[in-house]
Amino acid sequence: MDGLPNSPAARDAATLVHGFTNLAAHRRDGAKIIVSGKGVYVYDDTGRPYIEAVAGMWCTSLGFGEEELIDAAVEQMHKLPYYHTVASKSVGPAIDLAEKLASLVPIRNARIYFALSGSEANDNLVKFIRYYNNAIGRPLKKKIISRINGYHGSTLGAASMTGIPVQHRAFDLPLPGFLHTDDPHFYRNGLPGEDEAAFVARMAGNLEAMILAEGPDTVAAFIAEPVTGAGGVVIPPDGYFSAIQAVLAKYDVLFLADEVITGFGRTGRMFGCETFGIAPDTMTMAKGLSSAYQPIAALALSDEIYRGLEKGSDSIGFFAHGTTYSGHPVAAAVALRTIEIMERRGILAHVQKVSRRFVERLRGFADHPLVGEVRAVGLVGAVELVADKATRARFQPLGAVGKFVRERCEDLGVITRQISASDTIAFSPPLIITEAEIDEVFDVFGRALDDAMAVRPV
Ligand SMILES: Cc1ncc(COP(=O)(O)O)c(C=O)c1O
Repeated sequence: MDGLPNSPAARDAATLVHGFTNLAAHRRDGAKIIVSGKGVYVYDDTGRPYIEAVAGMWCTSLGFGEEELIDAAVEQMHKLPYYHTVASKSVGPAIDLAEKLASLVPIRNARIYFALSGSEANDNLVKFIRYYNNAIGRPLKKKIISRINGYHGSTLGAASMTGIPVQHRAFDLPLPGFLHTDDPHFYRNGLPGEDEAAFVARMAGNLEAMILAEGPDTVAAFIAEPVTGAGGVVIPPDGYFSAIQAVLAKYDVLFLADEVITGFGRTGRMFGCETFGIAPDTMTMAKGLSSAYQPIAALALSDEIYRGLEKGSDSIGFFAHGTTYSGHPVAAAVALRTIEIMERRGILAHVQKVSRRFVERLRGFADHPLVGEVRAVGLVGAVELVADKATRARFQPLGAVGKFVRERCEDLGVITRQISASDTIAFSPPLIITEAEIDEVFDVFGRALDDAMAVRPV
């Protein structure tokens, strides 16, 4: 590794364990250290600016250095830096935020529980659904169906729902009771001669066959991201979610919407469920909830599920689940201010406006010789690079061209996301991005693609 033995990168490599990283390569190559940020830009420890075209981990929706969010945290720190919400204690910011979220989510009379991360929220949800079904006398109805390539987090339950094989391998996952149905990615999984309508019917038919094979009385829920994020920014064909919801309704299977990426404006509406016509029973949210300025996640539960929890808690004696930081007042105050800023500054209208440019610029790459498919909705999108446009053949080895393009973009001052060592490059910039900044991102990406032509494997 370049640099002095006491440089931040050397000290990092000596002590810090990194997630989603090749650990040996990291020890050799070291980290890029980010020290500050403003707007859509972050700065490394040499002072170099980069446009953060994935908003960190698809999360800093209001950009970096937003003074109002900093003020919200400082004000709450002075007032009450910590108190908890267990054993019938509560704090004002958690109450205000719960009320606000309940008024926003497309779930009637929603009840809100707070967690710290998307993984924790989804993991908690698995427990809550089990508790609910036990309380209402359905002790067998416990299995959860998620989708191949879906991403729901890294804790035991959330990683079991995740449908990305590398996240199961060597972790002895998934746990029993977690099943995976089709990835609704038409470009990759459509059959020769199959149109989108037939593809959707096949997806719904396979889900129904799985529920019947398992026994409907054993299947509790189906979980999906409105747009699959970490699995490749997959946008299902028209009609997919209505066909899936019809199957779920038939067998009394809950729809759990994972809005960790799509929540809070990413698709141009407040929630992805609104963009894609989903009527969920629960919703998990994180990331954009606080513009990632504080670690906070939320679960919205239907009144019916909540009443099950209350019933179970009454018969057992109490609801024996809780954490120290659930409803943390500083995190809740920052999340509340985030939503308030979104409303006051018209962030949704801004996304609707600039996303036209974002989608148009992304689609402009469709004819590039390296590009197989362009996918985009709102301010989230991806470009899948292929070795052969006609056959859709992937590059071998998979990921080398994607890595080159990601690194080239970074050399040119734009941080993108390479999807799980593949040749798909994702974009999910802060929602405050301007049209001029969108142009800057895609001018750089275009140069990186052209440069990749010279080095691609043949
Ligand atoms: C859709 C989705 N669900 C859950 C998670 C997990 O969230 P966290 O990383 O906060 O645990 C993520 C993270 O990227 C996500 O994209």
